[in-house]
Amino acid sequence: MIDETRQSGTILAIESSCDDTSCAVMSGGKILSNIVANQDVHKNFGGVVPELASRAHLSHIVPVVDEALKKAGLKIGQIDAFAFTRGPGLLGSLIVGAQFAKGLALATGKPLIEVNHMEAHILAHFIDEPKPDFPFLNLTVSGGHTELVVMRGPLEQELIGQTLDDAAGEAFDKCGKMMGLPYPAGPAIDKLAKEGSPVYPFPDSKVPGLDFSFSGLKTAVLYFISDRIKENPDFLEENKSDLAASIQYTIAKTLVKKTLLAAGKEELNDIAISGGVSVNSQLREMMRSACQKSGRMLFLASPEYCTDNAAMIAMAAHFKFLQGDFAELNATASPRLKRESAAS
Ligand code: KG4
Ligand code: ZN
Repeated sequence: MIDETRQSGTILAIESSCDDTSCAVMSGGKILSNIVANQDVHKNFGGVVPELASRAHLSHIVPVVDEALKKAGLKIGQIDAFAFTRGPGLLGSLIVGAQFAKGLALATGKPLIEVNHMEAHILAHFIDEPKPDFPFLNLTVSGGHTELVVMRGPLEQELIGQTLDDAAGEAFDKCGKMMGLPYPAGPAIDKLAKEGSPVYPFPDSKVPGLDFSFSGLKTAVLYFISDRIKENPDFLEENKSDLAASIQYTIAKTLVKKTLLAAGKEELNDIAISGGVSVNSQLREMMRSACQKSGRMLFLASPEYCTDNAAMIAMAAHFKFLQGDFAELNATASPRLKRESAAS
């Protein structure tokens, strides 16, 4: 149970689940700093190279934590608890953040809080106003996950739909790679699509119910590009914007359709979207219009709290602090960590 009368204190949180090293400081539920160091080393590989990611975390973690403390105007001795992402994510990346947070907790004698990255993506909606009321429906769309979750309380999350293969962000990144765009390709496709039209009709996912599948789109785009290039070697260069618009429209349409289906089934009026793909301009626009038409409220977090960041880890840790839910110093990174409260 969350004890509302308990003071949440000052929390330093570390996120290192994939390719961003981030540290945030939160006091009484308010963010004082949120520093993110991106890793450019993966750009030309079409995806995150795990070994390069953990090495880059090692070199980024000290300056990132220092900068977060400096920006918050605090010294390490003023921190009341240290939080870290326990999983899911890449093992080598997670270990860097987990060990660093444990070291700080051990050295200062302050408690440790472990956070589930997927739970934290949703709790990013509680950093700024307006905050959704419980219960609400959340669509999380990131590079590794596509999930529909009913939020009954901050730490009561019920998974009701997920991707059976690729995640929505993975679909953006893999299709972008086929178009010759650097990793991660989502932002570039979003930008290119603004100058194009969705003229190429890629097939919708055929998965029934609330689950998703994006691997069919990836295959369709692969064959489409290679067929067109056979006819015209300059096809990609000449039609990049229309191709980007068509891929983006197909992904956004599926996400909006399934989210509205879930909201109807669960009789939920408030919808929130989170994760890196929730920054996508067309997804935001199409979701806004679908919510307006069906009389629902849509909650969008600010972009800095959608892509991977430690502020969302601090927010989740804040709720755990109020609950007195602390981790042991022998807590380990867990690449396939499941939701604590998943009723699925
Ligand atoms: O949440 P996130 O930062 O990291 C994970 O936990 O995976 O999400 C990263 C994903 C990448 O696949 C990236 O291409 C996608 O978010 N992304 C976007 C946009 N910005 C980031 N996808 C579409 N449109 C965007 N504007
Ligand atoms: Zn993420």
